[in-house]
Amino acid sequence: MNSTKATAPGKIILFGEHSVVYGQPAIAVPVSQVQATCTVRENPAGDGILLIAPDIDRREYLSAAGDGDPLALAVRRTLDALGAGAPPLEITVTSTIPIACGLGSGAAISAAIIRALGAFFRHPFEPQQVSDIAFEVEKIYHGTPSGIDNTVVAFAQPIFFVKGQPIERLTVGAPLTFIIGDTGIKSPTYKVVGDLRARRSENPAVYDSTFARMGALAQEARSAIERGDAVSVGRLMGENHAILRELGISHPLLDALVGAAMDAGALGAKLSGAGWGGNMIALATPATASAIGAALTAAGAVRVIETVVR
Ligand code: PMV
Repeated sequence: MNSTKATAPGKIILFGEHSVVYGQPAIAVPVSQVQATCTVRENPAGDGILLIAPDIDRREYLSAAGDGDPLALAVRRTLDALGAGAPPLEITVTSTIPIACGLGSGAAISAAIIRALGAFFRHPFEPQQVSDIAFEVEKIYHGTPSGIDNTVVAFAQPIFFVKGQPIERLTVGAPLTFIIGDTGIKSPTYKVVGDLRARRSENPAVYDSTFARMGALAQEARSAIERGDAVSVGRLMGENHAILRELGISHPLLDALVGAAMDAGALGAKLSGAGWGGNMIALATPATASAIGAALTAAGAVRVIETVVR
Protein backbone atom coordinates (compact mmCIF):
# COMPACT_ATOMS: atom_id res chain seq x y z
CA MET A 1 0.00 0.00 0.00
CA ASN A 2 1.19 3.50 -0.82
CA SER A 3 2.48 5.24 2.31
CA THR A 4 4.41 8.51 2.73
CA LYS A 5 6.20 10.05 5.65
CA ALA A 6 7.52 13.56 6.32
CA THR A 7 9.15 15.35 9.21
CA ALA A 8 9.65 18.94 10.35
CA PRO A 9 12.09 20.25 12.96
CA GLY A 10 11.51 22.27 16.11
CA LYS A 11 12.82 25.84 16.32
CA ILE A 12 14.20 28.46 18.68
CA ILE A 13 14.05 32.22 18.39
CA LEU A 14 17.51 33.75 18.87
CA PHE A 15 16.44 37.41 18.77
CA GLY A 16 13.25 39.45 18.59
CA GLU A 17 10.39 37.38 20.02
CA HIS A 18 7.35 39.61 20.68
CA SER A 19 8.81 42.68 18.93
CA VAL A 20 8.47 40.61 15.71
CA VAL A 21 4.68 40.74 16.18
CA TYR A 22 4.95 44.55 15.85
CA GLY A 23 6.95 44.52 12.62
CA GLN A 24 10.50 44.42 14.00
CA PRO A 25 13.02 41.92 12.59
CA ALA A 26 13.78 38.65 14.38
CA ILE A 27 16.13 35.70 13.99
CA ALA A 28 15.10 32.05 14.32
CA VAL A 29 16.83 28.74 13.64
CA PRO A 30 15.61 25.16 13.25
CA VAL A 31 16.32 22.57 15.95
CA SER A 32 16.64 19.17 14.27
CA GLN A 33 17.21 17.29 17.57
CA VAL A 34 13.44 17.33 18.05
CA GLN A 35 10.90 16.83 15.29
CA ALA A 36 7.33 16.16 14.27
CA THR A 37 6.57 13.23 11.96
CA CYS A 38 3.50 12.49 9.86
CA THR A 39 2.69 9.26 8.03
CA VAL A 40 -0.09 9.04 5.46
CA ARG A 41 -1.54 5.86 3.96
CA GLU A 42 -4.84 4.71 2.56
CA ASN A 43 -7.34 3.98 5.30
CA PRO A 44 -7.61 0.16 5.19
CA ALA A 45 -11.20 0.41 6.46
CA GLY A 46 -11.94 2.75 3.53
CA ASP A 47 -14.46 4.77 5.48
CA GLY A 48 -13.11 8.32 5.73
CA ILE A 49 -10.08 10.24 6.97
CA LEU A 50 -8.82 8.90 10.28
CA LEU A 51 -6.53 11.13 12.40
CA ILE A 52 -4.24 9.27 14.80
CA ALA A 53 -2.04 11.04 17.36
CA PRO A 54 -0.76 8.34 19.74
CA ASP A 55 1.18 10.86 21.89
CA ILE A 56 -2.10 12.43 23.00
CA ASP A 57 -4.22 9.24 22.79
CA ARG A 58 -6.21 10.56 19.90
CA ARG A 59 -7.94 8.50 17.22
CA GLU A 60 -10.75 10.34 15.54
CA TYR A 61 -12.36 10.78 12.14
CA LEU A 62 -11.75 14.14 10.50
CA SER A 63 -15.49 14.54 10.00
CA ALA A 64 -15.91 14.59 13.81
CA ALA A 65 -13.22 17.24 14.41
CA GLY A 66 -14.33 20.87 14.80
CA ASP A 67 -13.12 23.89 12.85
CA GLY A 68 -10.96 25.05 15.74
CA ASP A 69 -8.95 21.82 15.75
CA PRO A 70 -5.41 22.51 14.51
CA LEU A 71 -4.66 18.98 13.24
CA ALA A 72 -7.94 18.83 11.36
CA LEU A 73 -7.42 22.32 9.96
CA ALA A 74 -3.94 21.41 8.67
CA VAL A 75 -5.39 18.35 6.92
CA ARG A 76 -8.41 20.20 5.48
CA ARG A 77 -6.38 23.16 4.20
CA THR A 78 -3.82 20.85 2.60
CA LEU A 79 -6.44 18.68 0.89
CA ASP A 80 -8.06 21.88 -0.40
CA ALA A 81 -4.71 23.09 -1.76
CA LEU A 82 -4.23 19.71 -3.44
CA GLY A 83 -7.78 19.66 -4.81
CA ALA A 84 -7.87 16.13 -3.42
CA GLY A 85 -11.42 16.00 -2.03
CA ALA A 86 -11.77 13.65 0.96
CA PRO A 87 -10.23 10.29 0.07
CA PRO A 88 -10.07 7.49 2.69
CA LEU A 89 -6.77 8.13 4.50
CA GLU A 90 -5.08 7.23 7.74
CA ILE A 91 -2.96 10.16 8.98
CA THR A 92 -0.68 9.48 11.94
CA VAL A 93 1.16 12.27 13.72
CA THR A 94 3.88 11.91 16.35
CA SER A 95 6.23 14.49 17.82
CA THR A 96 9.24 14.68 20.10
CA ILE A 97 8.84 18.46 20.40
CA PRO A 98 7.48 19.46 23.81
CA ILE A 99 4.16 21.32 23.53
CA ALA A 100 3.71 24.99 24.58
CA CYS A 101 7.41 25.46 25.36
CA GLY A 102 8.45 27.82 22.56
CA LEU A 103 9.99 25.09 20.40
CA GLY A 104 7.50 25.46 17.57
CA SER A 105 5.62 22.22 18.14
CA GLY A 106 2.38 23.41 16.53
CA ALA A 107 4.05 24.74 13.38
CA ALA A 108 6.19 21.61 13.00
CA ILE A 109 3.19 19.28 13.29
CA SER A 110 1.37 21.29 10.62
CA ALA A 111 4.42 21.30 8.34
CA ALA A 112 4.87 17.52 8.69
CA ILE A 113 1.19 16.93 7.84
CA ILE A 114 1.32 19.28 4.83
CA ARG A 115 4.49 17.66 3.46
CA ALA A 116 3.34 14.08 4.02
CA LEU A 117 0.01 14.75 2.28
CA GLY A 118 1.78 16.56 -0.57
CA ALA A 119 4.08 13.56 -1.03
CA PHE A 120 1.15 11.12 -0.85
CA PHE A 121 -0.59 12.92 -3.71
CA ARG A 122 2.71 13.26 -5.60
CA HIS A 123 2.53 17.03 -5.35
CA PRO A 124 5.46 18.06 -3.13
CA PHE A 125 4.91 21.57 -1.81
CA GLU A 126 7.53 24.33 -1.97
CA PRO A 127 8.67 25.53 1.49
CA GLN A 128 6.75 28.80 1.03
CA GLN A 129 3.53 26.86 0.37
CA VAL A 130 4.13 24.72 3.45
CA SER A 131 4.70 27.92 5.45
CA ASP A 132 1.54 29.58 4.11
CA ILE A 133 -0.73 26.65 4.97
CA ALA A 134 0.91 26.21 8.39
CA PHE A 135 0.36 29.94 9.04
CA GLU A 136 -3.40 29.46 8.72
CA VAL A 137 -3.18 26.84 11.46
CA GLU A 138 -0.85 28.99 13.60
CA LYS A 139 -3.64 31.52 13.87
CA ILE A 140 -5.50 28.98 16.02
CA TYR A 141 -2.57 28.41 18.36
CA HIS A 142 -1.38 31.99 18.60
CA GLY A 143 -4.28 34.29 17.76
CA THR A 144 -2.13 36.94 16.06
CA PRO A 145 1.06 35.10 15.01
CA SER A 146 3.89 36.96 13.32
CA GLY A 147 4.52 33.96 11.06
CA ILE A 148 8.08 33.35 12.26
CA ASP A 149 7.40 29.81 13.57
CA ASN A 150 5.81 28.43 10.39
CA THR A 151 8.50 30.13 8.26
CA VAL A 152 11.57 28.74 10.06
CA VAL A 153 10.05 25.28 10.39
CA ALA A 154 8.98 25.13 6.73
CA PHE A 155 12.33 26.37 5.39
CA ALA A 156 14.31 24.41 8.02
CA GLN A 157 17.20 26.85 8.01
CA PRO A 158 18.33 29.98 9.90
CA ILE A 159 16.19 32.97 8.95
CA PHE A 160 16.11 36.73 9.39
CA PHE A 161 12.41 37.38 9.53
CA VAL A 162 10.24 40.47 9.16
CA LYS A 163 6.48 39.95 9.31
CA GLY A 164 4.84 40.06 5.90
CA GLN A 165 8.14 40.26 4.00
CA PRO A 166 9.85 37.61 1.85
CA ILE A 167 12.06 35.25 3.84
CA GLU A 168 15.77 36.07 4.13
CA ARG A 169 18.09 33.14 4.72
CA LEU A 170 20.82 33.84 7.24
CA THR A 171 24.43 32.93 6.56
CA VAL A 172 26.20 31.65 9.67
CA GLY A 173 29.88 32.69 9.59
CA ALA A 174 31.00 30.14 12.18
CA PRO A 175 28.99 27.34 13.87
CA LEU A 176 27.17 28.43 17.05
CA THR A 177 26.49 25.89 19.83
CA PHE A 178 23.28 26.54 21.75
CA ILE A 179 22.07 24.80 24.88
CA ILE A 180 18.30 24.90 25.28
CA GLY A 181 16.99 24.67 28.85
CA ASP A 182 13.33 23.81 29.38
CA THR A 183 11.65 25.18 32.52
CA GLY A 184 8.94 22.53 32.15
CA ILE A 185 6.42 25.35 32.66
CA LYS A 186 3.84 25.28 29.89
CA SER A 187 3.04 28.75 28.64
CA PRO A 188 0.56 29.14 25.77
CA THR A 189 1.86 31.79 23.39
CA TYR A 190 -1.50 33.48 22.80
CA LYS A 191 -1.80 34.35 26.51
CA VAL A 192 1.56 36.13 26.73
CA VAL A 193 1.08 37.85 23.37
CA GLY A 194 -2.46 38.92 24.36
CA ASP A 195 -1.30 40.32 27.70
CA LEU A 196 1.47 42.33 26.07
CA ARG A 197 -0.92 43.59 23.41
CA ALA A 198 -3.31 44.86 26.09
CA ARG A 199 -0.50 46.63 27.95
CA ARG A 200 0.86 48.15 24.74
CA SER A 201 -2.54 49.54 23.75
CA GLU A 202 -2.42 51.73 26.87
CA ASN A 203 0.96 53.17 26.06
CA PRO A 204 1.90 52.45 22.45
CA ALA A 205 4.75 54.98 22.15
CA VAL A 206 6.70 53.54 25.09
CA TYR A 207 6.22 49.93 24.00
CA ASP A 208 7.01 50.67 20.37
CA SER A 209 10.30 52.31 21.28
CA THR A 210 11.20 49.22 23.35
CA PHE A 211 10.30 47.00 20.39
CA ALA A 212 12.47 49.18 18.14
CA ARG A 213 15.42 48.61 20.50
CA MET A 214 14.87 44.88 20.14
CA GLY A 215 14.71 45.25 16.37
CA ALA A 216 18.05 47.08 16.42
CA LEU A 217 19.55 44.22 18.48
CA ALA A 218 18.32 41.70 15.89
CA GLN A 219 19.94 43.75 13.12
CA GLU A 220 23.22 43.90 15.03
CA ALA A 221 22.99 40.18 15.81
CA ARG A 222 22.50 39.41 12.15
CA SER A 223 25.88 40.92 11.23
CA ALA A 224 27.55 39.28 14.25
CA ILE A 225 26.19 35.86 13.19
CA GLU A 226 27.23 36.45 9.58
CA ARG A 227 30.79 37.32 10.54
CA GLY A 228 31.01 34.46 13.05
CA ASP A 229 31.44 36.74 16.07
CA ALA A 230 30.08 34.55 18.90
CA VAL A 231 31.19 36.96 21.65
CA SER A 232 29.01 39.74 20.21
CA VAL A 233 26.11 37.35 19.64
CA GLY A 234 26.30 36.38 23.33
CA ARG A 235 26.40 40.00 24.52
CA LEU A 236 23.39 40.87 22.35
CA MET A 237 21.46 37.87 23.75
CA GLY A 238 22.00 39.25 27.25
CA GLU A 239 20.72 42.66 26.16
CA ASN A 240 17.67 41.07 24.54
CA HIS A 241 16.90 39.11 27.72
CA ALA A 242 17.15 42.29 29.82
CA ILE A 243 14.55 43.99 27.60
CA LEU A 244 12.24 40.96 27.75
CA ARG A 245 12.50 41.11 31.55
CA GLU A 246 11.61 44.81 31.48
CA LEU A 247 8.57 43.88 29.40
CA GLY A 248 7.44 41.39 32.06
CA ILE A 249 7.88 38.41 29.74
CA SER A 250 10.33 36.42 31.88
CA HIS A 251 9.79 34.08 34.85
CA PRO A 252 11.91 33.53 37.98
CA LEU A 253 12.98 30.09 36.75
CA LEU A 254 13.91 31.48 33.31
CA ASP A 255 16.04 34.14 35.05
CA ALA A 256 17.61 31.50 37.31
CA LEU A 257 18.51 29.34 34.30
CA VAL A 258 19.95 32.34 32.46
CA GLY A 259 22.05 33.17 35.54
CA ALA A 260 23.22 29.56 35.94
CA ALA A 261 24.26 29.38 32.28
CA MET A 262 26.25 32.62 32.56
CA ASP A 263 27.96 31.40 35.77
CA ALA A 264 28.90 28.21 33.90
CA GLY A 265 30.65 30.20 31.19
CA ALA A 266 27.97 30.90 28.56
CA LEU A 267 28.74 33.74 26.13
CA GLY A 268 25.14 34.89 26.52
CA ALA A 269 21.72 33.59 27.54
CA LYS A 270 18.11 34.62 27.19
CA LEU A 271 14.60 33.31 27.27
CA SER A 272 13.41 32.09 23.86
CA GLY A 273 9.85 32.18 22.55
CA ALA A 274 6.76 33.49 24.27
CA GLY A 275 8.16 33.57 27.84
CA TRP A 276 6.41 33.16 31.25
CA GLY A 277 7.82 29.63 31.08
CA GLY A 278 8.93 27.48 28.18
CA ASN A 279 12.56 27.58 27.17
CA MET A 280 15.71 29.60 27.53
CA ILE A 281 18.83 29.33 25.38
CA ALA A 282 22.50 29.73 26.21
CA LEU A 283 25.33 30.29 23.74
CA ALA A 284 28.15 27.85 24.49
CA THR A 285 31.34 26.71 22.83
CA PRO A 286 32.15 23.03 22.21
CA ALA A 287 34.36 23.29 25.34
CA THR A 288 31.72 24.77 27.68
CA ALA A 289 28.61 23.00 26.34
CA SER A 290 28.49 20.09 28.76
CA ALA A 291 29.22 22.23 31.86
CA ILE A 292 26.44 24.64 30.85
CA GLY A 293 24.02 21.75 30.26
CA ALA A 294 24.84 20.32 33.71
CA ALA A 295 24.44 23.75 35.34
CA LEU A 296 21.00 24.16 33.74
CA THR A 297 19.88 20.76 35.00
CA ALA A 298 21.19 21.56 38.50
CA ALA A 299 19.30 24.89 38.42
CA GLY A 300 15.99 23.17 37.63
CA ALA A 301 15.75 22.62 33.86
CA VAL A 302 13.61 19.54 33.17
CA ARG A 303 15.23 18.96 29.77
CA VAL A 304 18.39 20.16 28.08
CA ILE A 305 19.00 20.03 24.33
CA GLU A 306 22.25 20.87 22.58
CA THR A 307 22.04 22.12 19.00
CA VAL A 308 24.64 23.53 16.62
CA VAL A 309 23.57 26.24 14.18
CA ARG A 310 25.49 26.26 10.87
O1 PMV B 1 5.84 29.95 19.66
P1 PMV B 1 6.74 30.67 20.58
O2 PMV B 1 6.42 30.45 22.00
O3 PMV B 1 8.17 30.53 20.23
O4 PMV B 1 6.45 32.25 20.43
C1 PMV B 1 6.41 32.84 19.19
C2 PMV B 1 7.11 34.14 19.22
C3 PMV B 1 6.26 35.35 19.52
O5 PMV B 1 7.02 36.43 19.00
C4 PMV B 1 6.10 35.53 21.02
C5 PMV B 1 4.89 35.32 18.88
C6 PMV B 1 4.92 35.43 17.36
O6 PMV B 1 3.87 35.19 16.76
O7 PMV B 1 5.95 35.77 16.77
